Amino acid sequence: MKKITFLFVVSLFSFACSNSSDDEIMRDDNEAYKAAETFYNNTLKSVITTNCISCHAGYHSKDNSSNYGNLTNAINNASGMYNQVNSGNMPLDGDKLSQDDIDKFEDFMDLVNAIP
Ligand code: HEC
Repeated sequence: MKKITFLFVVSLFSFACSNSSDDEIMRDDNEAYKAAETFYNNTLKSVITTNCISCHAGYHSKDNSSNYGNLTNAINNASGMYNQVNSGNMPLDGDKLSQDDIDKFEDFMDLVNAIP
């Protein structure tokens, strides 16, 4: 019984400490989601900040869905982003990204596709 109470307190605690910015998704207990989130924060976000955010801060979509600086939007557009950078359509009016950076979009798409 003590063990169960302990686990309950620990899970309450980690729930209370979880990042609130993507609360609507509520997938903090999902390993695949966490893997995608970690990869986004540590690897992909800097590429997006450098190459995409000048336009994709959301202002060319009514619902702000093209702000790829936001994890939820990035997840929802993972394959679209990969297709656009792999084809060279994006960055608009810019040089095609390096293969290394394109691979990061592909890796992110694969991680997102693994989310149940
Ligand atoms: C110079 C501005 C500019 C830059 C930089 C840019 N985009 Fe875009 N992007 C646009 C515009 C404008 C559209 C919408 C019109 C269209 O589809 O051509 C668009 C559309 C898209 C779409 C289709 C879905 C949508 O939001 O309409 C994706 C996916 C996309 N961009 C990804 C990227 C990624 C990833 C990068 C960075 C590697 C990037 N873009 C950089 C201007 C830009």
